Amino acid sequence: MHIHKYEKWWLVFGTGTLIAFLIIIGVSAFHSGTHPNNSKWTLDYEKVDETAPFDNPGVHKVEGKDWDYEVVLVASAFSYNPTEIEIPVGSKVRFIATTKDVIHGFEVAGTNINMMLEPGYVSEQITTVDQVGEFTIVCNEYCGVGHAMMYSTLKVVE
Ligand code: CUA
Repeated sequence: MHIHKYEKWWLVFGTGTLIAFLIIIGVSAFHSGTHPNNSKWTLDYEKVDETAPFDNPGVHKVEGKDWDYEVVLVASAFSYNPTEIEIPVGSKVRFIATTKDVIHGFEVAGTNINMMLEPGYVSEQITTVDQVGEFTIVCNEYCGVGHAMMYSTLKVVE
């Protein structure tokens, strides 16, 4: 097949551009794939509902551990399960959370509780709730159209 000189040049140029483009895509995919996450606890984010402890979200009183309560929380676009958490003041709490879809945040406004929830990873934070009140749990990672509507409530009671 005869290809005109200039057409051939454009073919080479086009292919080269495509390869460069694919390299850039590949590099950014690799970069996000090696995104550092300090959590070593991983799970299949598509099977969160069947994976313990996320098959039973909520507040659980525990015995014989360094903390008094475990709060198991599942985030998904655009809500948290549970939608309300109640804990007695002075309790040491281990928050255990993950996401079923995209990256979400978990920030208890007005406290030091703040975690990023990434698909495939479990985030944890242990803290003592020492202030009575009602705290709003907000998503501080942009996750889509319902981002601003995504919240839950932490009630610290006497
Ligand atoms: Cu979930 Cu923003």
